[in-house]
Amino acid sequence: MKLWGGRFESGPSEVFERFSGSLHFDRRLLDADIRGSQAWARALERVGILTPGEREQIVAAFDRIRQDAGLFEGAADEDVHTLVIRKLKEHVGELADKIHTGRSRNEQVSLDTRLWVREECGRARGLLVALLEALLDAAARWPEAVIPGYTHLRRAQPVLWAHYLLAYFEMFARDWERFGEARRRANVLPLGSGALAGSGFPFDREEMARDLGFDGITANSMDVSADRDFVLDFLYAASCAMLHLSRLAEDWILYSSEEFGWLELADEVTSGSSLMPQKKNPDSLELIRGKTGRVIGALTSLFITVKGLPLTYNRDMQEDKEPLFEAADQLAGSLEMACVVAASIRLNPARPLAAVEESWAVATDLAEALARSGVPFHQAHQRVGRLVLENLRQGKRPRDLTADDLRDFPPECLALLDPRKGIESRELPGGTGPRAVADALETARKRLAGMRG
Ligand code: ARG
Repeated sequence: MKLWGGRFESGPSEVFERFSGSLHFDRRLLDADIRGSQAWARALERVGILTPGEREQIVAAFDRIRQDAGLFEGAADEDVHTLVIRKLKEHVGELADKIHTGRSRNEQVSLDTRLWVREECGRARGLLVALLEALLDAAARWPEAVIPGYTHLRRAQPVLWAHYLLAYFEMFARDWERFGEARRRANVLPLGSGALAGSGFPFDREEMARDLGFDGITANSMDVSADRDFVLDFLYAASCAMLHLSRLAEDWILYSSEEFGWLELADEVTSGSSLMPQKKNPDSLELIRGKTGRVIGALTSLFITVKGLPLTYNRDMQEDKEPLFEAADQLAGSLEMACVVAASIRLNPARPLAAVEESWAVATDLAEALARSGVPFHQAHQRVGRLVLENLRQGKRPRDLTADDLRDFPPECLALLDPRKGIESRELPGGTGPRAVADALETARKRLAGMRG
């Protein structure tokens, strides 16, 4: 069955049918398509195209179609919308010919995709909340641990482990917001737009929007036919979340390496080598990092598909779905995996602390102490730089220094050779001071509770 054909003298070639068919992927929109079509039947009743009895018959038939386990067996329809209508015809006969009154697949595909994206934003947000919780738990397990913070992957300044994890909390909390934004923009009703010019029937679009749980209605029918921004919004949110996951993955791959040796990943999330018996590889994290490329690729792919398309609908736009589904699946899988890894990590606090102490990561604390005592900062920086150079030459670490070595420095500098002391000087909001971090953890817990609510 086709939803068109009257003006054609011959049917499509087998090659074209195979080439253009989308059922093998847009079947994932089945549920959305049926929901939308049931709402459409109710709208058709309100404009007098269907009687209440006919609407009831159609809505009930759609319910049966949804439950039909063998629905896709041997189905060769052009797309999911065509399949659903063909099935309706099998259930209610000629009455099915009325369902598409005043409706176009162009708005239908927009509707279905919006419903799907809306759901998927909810799923992504749920998984992000679980990850945020896992990060806070990992912070709480080692509340006092000190690690070197890095710039240029060189030891920069000491920070609390919890402060480091809270940085990721912020990133993933922004991702959670971004999915909220993506959901909000997708959550408007496109139905009533027709193919591009608006429907020829006096539908109450607001009523339809309420029926389908939309926040409002789209404002321009041509925009609806042409627009895939809401898919791009989702893919952008997904790409950002994956980007953040890839950085976390990379950090933990490094931190769990023999060279760093801070983190131990559980057996459950690592794998061995077929050749080298001693290996314990961080494949779960490497795969998260690897899948990030696919998700960003999906965003790029849709951007390129839509670029330069003349208004309004073009069949090119059918190419939006595979990247969308692909990105959503990879994101969900990666978030789930990251949660399990985060719950499994074991920090060995002695190692990152030793990394701090072997380095001159406290140098900034010394320079700032000099500046607090009145030395202009550039001069303080120079003086501490010379102190570092001299001690590096002699192979001395901060803790090897005596009061005599620091006789030209303010008295507080001696204590600042202990990295914890410098950390304590950073108690302003957003800093790594222990009280600031404890407050930040508490605020994060509250925010997390709000995200659940
Ligand atoms: N399957 C199409 C898509 O996903 C929707 C059908 C609209 N087709 C058309 N020729 N106007 O975009």
